[in-house]
Amino acid sequence: MLDLILRNANLPDGRTGQDIAIEGGKIAEISPHIPAAAIAEIDAAGYLVTPPFVDPHFHMDATLSLGLPRMNRSGTLLEGIALWGELRPTLTIDALVDRALRYCDLAVSQGLLAIRSHVDTSDARLVTVEAMLEVKRRVAPYIDLQLVAFPQDGVFRAKDGLDSLIRALDMGVDIVGGIPHFERTMEDGRLSVETLCRLAADRGLPVDMHCDETDDPLSRHVETLAAQTIRHGLQTRVAGSHLTSMHSMDNYYASKLIPLIAEAQMNVIPNPLINIMLQGRHDTYPKRRGMTRVRELMAAGINVSFGHDCVMDPWYSMGSGDMLEVGHMAIHVAQMASVDEKIDIFNALTTNAARTLGLTDYGLAKGNTADMVLLQAQNPAEALRLKPARLAVIKSGKIIAQTPARVSTLSLSGRPETVNAAHYAPNL
Ligand code: FE2
Repeated sequence: MLDLILRNANLPDGRTGQDIAIEGGKIAEISPHIPAAAIAEIDAAGYLVTPPFVDPHFHMDATLSLGLPRMNRSGTLLEGIALWGELRPTLTIDALVDRALRYCDLAVSQGLLAIRSHVDTSDARLVTVEAMLEVKRRVAPYIDLQLVAFPQDGVFRAKDGLDSLIRALDMGVDIVGGIPHFERTMEDGRLSVETLCRLAADRGLPVDMHCDETDDPLSRHVETLAAQTIRHGLQTRVAGSHLTSMHSMDNYYASKLIPLIAEAQMNVIPNPLINIMLQGRHDTYPKRRGMTRVRELMAAGINVSFGHDCVMDPWYSMGSGDMLEVGHMAIHVAQMASVDEKIDIFNALTTNAARTLGLTDYGLAKGNTADMVLLQAQNPAEALRLKPARLAVIKSGKIIAQTPARVSTLSLSGRPETVNAAHYAPNL
């Protein structure tokens, strides 16, 4: 007897009418009409079952702190950093853990089961690090949480910045971060990339840097990051987050840079919600979009995944833990709305992001851990359009979250009694 079986599911690769059998927390079989019985059964009813959403770029130490100690009045990245600097000395481990756990509850309800979070190491007290390591331990049964040592104020600009970052790694943080465009000079930025890549290589750790999060087309630290990746043999283990300056670069330089990023096998992580909100702030009109060149990077074979970055914090007052909201914005900002491009965007929230995080045992395949999400949508394009209910979220074969289907009732003479938005355009 199986533990659980999902009947009549659509899959992200286009297969329809599939049953998914689960036993011992693993996927035992995926095929049409599995005859075996199970202790529990879910009728997927032709809706989409996807591997869990993966957020490759988040700030778990800042989330849900909106309004503390005040709101960001200008709405800019720099006021956000200043505001975080005001809040930071007042942070306590208990408050940080409480807010992060509440966010993780929300994430689970949205089918988001793997998150890479940057953790600010600028304050030498490192309460942020202590708190996030505790959160990582507490959520481990249901969320795969990776932590990046992130020198928000600049590894050279902050007092004892490099020392604090190294202590965070010693405490158990998994990944080396950086913020070269926020160092005092271009030269310091270049030096920070070199120093941090060497540190990662020496310790056998991955790298994930906030890189060139600016509208300055001459902010070219990504070039150094790619070169250092190759020099230290860090291919596939380095991520460049944001890369918004690429939006403003001239096309000739971009034509040299993109193949270099591909050669370094770097992962690229745009953050569409935050990029469209924070970039272009010094423009009048026309205003730049400020998101990196997603279509061109993908066309070059580079692994692109999208991050949520912020939810209700000093930088961004919006957000809901829903990666489909991130993908919805990506479609608009990147103008990628063809049938194939929507698949690319959906993959950037799931399989590409899992690759960025280096997750093994991810995906809907026999033998993998039975982690999956049943959506009230029939295919990835419809999921991106509707941001539908997560009818069931399954972790290691157990249902850990459920949401009722959204069906409206109508009181209109001569019209149907109910409306289910997922029954409108099944294939487009
Ligand atoms: Fe970020």
